[in-house]
Formats: sequence, C-alpha cells, structure tokens
Amino acid sequence: MNTPYLVAAPPQASLTPDSVEDGDFIQLRQVRKAYSEQLVVMDQMTLSMRADDRLVIIGPSGSGKSSLLRVLMGLESIQGGSIHFQGKPYIDGSRKHGKPLDEALHKQIGMVFQHYTLFPHLSVLGNLILAPVRVHGLSKAEATEKARAYLSRLGLESKLHAYPSQLSGGQKQRVAIARALMLEPRLMLFDEVTSALDPEMVTEVQNVMMQLADQKMAMIIVTHDMHFARHIATRVVFCANGKVVEQGPPQQLFTAPREARTREFLEKVLHLD
Ligand SMILES: Nc1ncnc2c1ncn2[C@@H]1O[C@H](COP(=O)(O)OP(=O)(O)OP(=O)(O)O)[C@@H](O)[C@H]1O
Ligand SMILES: [Mg+2]
Repeated sequence: MNTPYLVAAPPQASLTPDSVEDGDFIQLRQVRKAYSEQLVVMDQMTLSMRADDRLVIIGPSGSGKSSLLRVLMGLESIQGGSIHFQGKPYIDGSRKHGKPLDEALHKQIGMVFQHYTLFPHLSVLGNLILAPVRVHGLSKAEATEKARAYLSRLGLESKLHAYPSQLSGGQKQRVAIARALMLEPRLMLFDEVTSALDPEMVTEVQNVMMQLADQKMAMIIVTHDMHFARHIATRVVFCANGKVVEQGPPQQLFTAPREARTREFLEKVLHLD
C-alpha cells in the first residue's frame, strides 16, 4: 500500500530499546492470572518486548491470549507477579485488585477488539473525539481537526458524519483503529481484529496495521491468520497452558519450531488454512 504517511510518527519512534532500563518496553514477570483455582490462564508467565517489537501471540483457543491483552489494557486483574511498562512498575499482582498502578502509563495503551466496539449512537466523528475530549481534555475543535486528519489518512474522510451502522465491517475496524490512535498510544493491542470480517475486508484492515508497523508502532497482535502473523511480526510467541512455550522470529518459529507442542499446533492450524 502506498499511502505515504498514515499517522504522525508515534512518540516512541525515537525511543531505542536501550533508552528503557534493561532494554525492555514491556516486561511480564512471573504473572499469574486465574479466573478460579482450576482455571489458570497465566502461570508464572514471563515475557518481554522491545519498543520496536511487534509481538504476535498464537496459541490454542482458550489458552489465554485475549486474557493477556485484557490484563495489559487494565481490563482484568492479575493475582501474582508484576508487569513493567517502559521501565516503570505498571501492574502489581500482590495488590488486591491488580489493576494498573499508573494511570499515565495506562493511557498509553490502545486496544482494538474482534467485535467492533464503536458506540452505535455516535457518528464516526463522535466516536473519535469522545475520549480525547473527556479524558485528555482536548477542545472539541482540536479533537475534530485531529479526527479529520486521521480519517483522511485512512481514506475515511467521507465517513466523518456516518454512523457505525452505515459502515462496512472493514470500515468499522479502521475507525476503531483510528479511535485508538487518537489517544496517541505508545503500544497498540489487537485482538483478532479481522476474524469477524469478510475476506475482502481483511486486507484493508491488515494494510492499516502494516502501515503502523512501518512507522514502528509497538504492537501486540493476537491472530489466527498465520500468513499475516509471518508478515507483520518481529517475534512470534506461542502460548499454551498459561506459559510461553516458544518464541522466536517468524521465519524460525514457522519453519523450524523447536518444541513438539509448537509443531503440533502449527500442523493443525496450517492444515486448516
Ligand atoms: N471473564 C472470565 N471469567 C471466567 N473465565 C474466563 C473469563 N474470560 C476468559 N475466561 C476463560 O479463560 C480461558 C482463556 O480465555 P481467553 O479468552 O483468554 O482465551 P483465548 O486464547 O483468547 O481463546 P480464543 O483463541 O478462543 O479467543 C478460557 O477457558 C475462558 O473460558
Ligand atoms: Mg481470544
């Protein structure tokens, strides 16, 4: 795709991994997440990410991929371990609620979900400016100008006053991405954002994500699309039973997985493709 410049370079573009203590942008340290005694979805999970990484998380259904993103987004608590973000304590599982400690850090994470989460009663513009005005204190005029700029870069300027019900699935997801970008996140989380789309709309959304990748946006992406995973990832992380089983560059993980469990999973999903 040739759109020259999709979004303003994210603020971390100049942040080299070394500018964060011990080189890590996100660090999960022995994180435990359990919905009940029997249902442990993160079991002493350890994982780290650099500011220029695009992690793609793969794993069996029910292995806790969405839970991991929801924890990072502050939507779920953890029961043990800790998470650091940009070298600072972000979530601490020893606290009763395990929710983000630092609201300023929390605001630097944006998330897009599988099912469009646009507010149906608000126009595209209304969806885009709501949080910037309410949470970040931008004036309506400033936020509107910014929304126009994002939508135009996404080829959606003609939809400014449309309502979500008047958009295609691919357009809705692109608006959802634009809405998250309005808050100038340093990290974007994507949870199966193309799974509910018709095939012809998948590409337009993936192209937007590729453009963000070109601009070095830090991303954690959960997807069942192994072709896309291979294309966009700097590192692929295979999780099962609450642990990272194996991780590596896509080239290595997809062609020469080291663990039998990874091979088994890949054989299954690649056959289905
Ligand atoms: N709020 C919740 N309360 C109780 N159990 C939950 C909750 N959310 C998820 N779970 C359970 O935790 C496990 C992990 O769920 P999660 O959605 O994180 O898996 P996933 O890897 O994203 O799966 P999929 O690939 O199907 O999307 C599942 O067994 C799920 O039923
Ligand atoms: Mg999921």
